[in-house]
Amino acid sequence: MNVLVIHGPNLNMLGIREKSVYGEKSFEDINELIMEEGKKLNMNIEIYQSNIEGEIINKIHGAYGRVEAIIINPAAFTHYSYAIRDAISSVNIPTIEVHLSNIHKREEFRTKSVTAPVCIGQISGFGYNSYLLAIQSLKMTKNS
Ligand code: DQA
Repeated sequence: MNVLVIHGPNLNMLGIREKSVYGEKSFEDINELIMEEGKKLNMNIEIYQSNIEGEIINKIHGAYGRVEAIIINPAAFTHYSYAIRDAISSVNIPTIEVHLSNIHKREEFRTKSVTAPVCIGQISGFGYNSYLLAIQSLKMTKNS
């Protein structure tokens, strides 16, 4: 199973950025854990990060016909990018939205996700484990 993991803006700063909210692990550490989980579950994972909305949209379009699932943390774009939402629904690839923090118990503006309604589901609040849980749930869904 080919899976594309997309990290949105500022996630490249993990390990430096707001550690009390997002944890101590660096972006590179988290990506390593994602790759390991993928290997364990026999998945072929590609990781992509961009701070630019259009690049994320192009990456989603490029996934069409190439990957079986997308795991995306749209970061701040979660809360207002109708363009990323439309890109996800354009390609018709099963997509899971993830967040390190629990967006529902933070500032009011973060509680709204414009992208979640076009995803299979959302995993929010488990730190870097949110990504690993998303990988595991793809495996479970595939086998069920
Ligand atoms: C985030 C939550 C967003 O509100 C925020 O803008 C981020 C990270 C998370 O993973 O918890 O950049 O997506």
